[in-house]
Parts: sequence; C-alpha cells; structure tokens
Amino acid sequence: MSNNFNTHSKVNNLTLCTDAEQASIYAANQIAELIREHQKQGKPAVLGLATGKTPTTVYKELIRLHQNESLSFHNVVSFNLDEYYPIGPKDLQSYTYFMRHYLFNHIDCKPQNIHIPHADCSPDRIEHYCKDYEDKIASFGGLDLQLLGIGRNGHIGFNEPGSSFDSTTRLVDLHSLTRKDAEKNFGTIENVPHQAISVGIHTIIQAKRILLLALGKEKSEIISKALNGEISTEVPASLLQTIPQVEYILDRDAAAFIDR
Ligand code: F6R
Repeated sequence: MSNNFNTHSKVNNLTLCTDAEQASIYAANQIAELIREHQKQGKPAVLGLATGKTPTTVYKELIRLHQNESLSFHNVVSFNLDEYYPIGPKDLQSYTYFMRHYLFNHIDCKPQNIHIPHADCSPDRIEHYCKDYEDKIASFGGLDLQLLGIGRNGHIGFNEPGSSFDSTTRLVDLHSLTRKDAEKNFGTIENVPHQAISVGIHTIIQAKRILLLALGKEKSEIISKALNGEISTEVPASLLQTIPQVEYILDRDAAAFIDR
C-alpha cells in the first residue's frame, strides 16, 4: 500500500497522496496551472472556492506561489460556495473574513473580481440576491474550476442531505451535524447560525473541472460512501460519481476505506 502513496498516484479520477500537505500542494498546483494557462490565452480564470479546514493549506501554497514564484491572480474571478446567514462580513466566523485572512489579503486578486455570498441582505432580498449570484457566474461563462471539500454528512457547499440535484444558489437550512462541526468556531452551538446561502448542486456540477479534496480520517467513511456508495440525495457528494470532470484528491487517512 505504501507504494501507492509515493507522493501521489493517480488512477482514473482519483489522486492518492501521502499526506494532507502533499494533497493540498497537488490541488494548489492544479489551480495555479489553470490560472497560468488562462493568462497565456488572455482569458479570466473563473474559480469556485471553498472555506473550512480542508482548503487552508491549498491557499497557503497559492500564496507561496504568488510570493515566491510570481503567480499572479490578476485574471482570477472567484465565486465562493457559501456563507452563513445571518452573519456580518467582519465577523471572525464569516467566510468573508476567512477568505480575506487565508487568501485574498495576500495575493493580487482584484477586489471587484471576488464574489462571496453576502450575508447582509435582508430576508426579502435573498431570492433576488441568489438569482443575481447565479447570473454573475453565468456572465463569466461559468466556473472553470470548482474546489470542494466534503462535510461529514456528504454535503458539498452547504447542499445538505436531501438537497435536490438541480438546486441553484439559495438560502438553506443547516444540518445538525454541520452546525455541530461549526460549534468550535462559534464557541457555543447556540451561536451557530441555522441557515446559510449556498451555491446549488446544479451550479457546482456545471463547473468545467471539479477538485474534491478530502483530508483526514474523519472524512474516510463519508468519502467512501460518496465514491463507492449508492447515488442518492442523502449523500449529496455521491452525485459527483456521474460527472466525468471530477478529480478526487485524498490523503492516506481519508482513503482508508476506498475500494480501489
Ligand atoms: C465550505 C463548504 C463546506 C466544507 C465542508 C468541509 O465552504 O462548502 O462544504 O467544504 O463542510 O469542511 P472542513 O474542510 O472544515 O472539514
């Protein structure tokens, strides 16, 4: 087995890496290559970005590439997957704060090209806001690459179990496990919002390329269900089995139960 994890090995659309750092660096390099390729062609690189623990080392590596290897983000247009609702953009737990802290404050992405679902719109404006978010993604020709993590309940973005496969950006109710996993960031469970704005499953699977990154043993059970289990709305990530443009990037711990 250890030979299979020599830095990384790729079988069809599954890339197995020795550890979380290797997996993250591999994902960052895929993103950097796409950005550079689009620069050569004079085109924007439209990225769908995730938050959470999973992508933090990816972002760290992208910052390193920017600082040490002249990777520019001047042509990047980004759309984040989700944001809690309600929450203020300056709140430490907000994904707006997260993205600034872990990525945008350290690179040369144009502020007007950064899109993160706004949590400050009033309830009566949300539907319109979500439609507008979708239209903006479409106006750039859709996402060139979507980076995804996976929740322990199989969610992608905040498309929780039961989410429709043709869902688009909308206000969603957070699953109890999702709220529990967020508790450490909010201090107490009562402080965790019950809702979020999330890009839909349909929006995600329209991306020209999808990288799903799963790291650590706490993702091993759900990633094996997502890859090898039945395709069901109960495990939203299982739908990705039907999508050819997906690459699963796993570290050794996350891959523990994968049937290869
Ligand atoms: C976050 C997101 C979520 C996370 C998932 C895993 O923007 O879309 O689907 O990717 O909850 O979170 P972590 O990486 O913290 O385990």
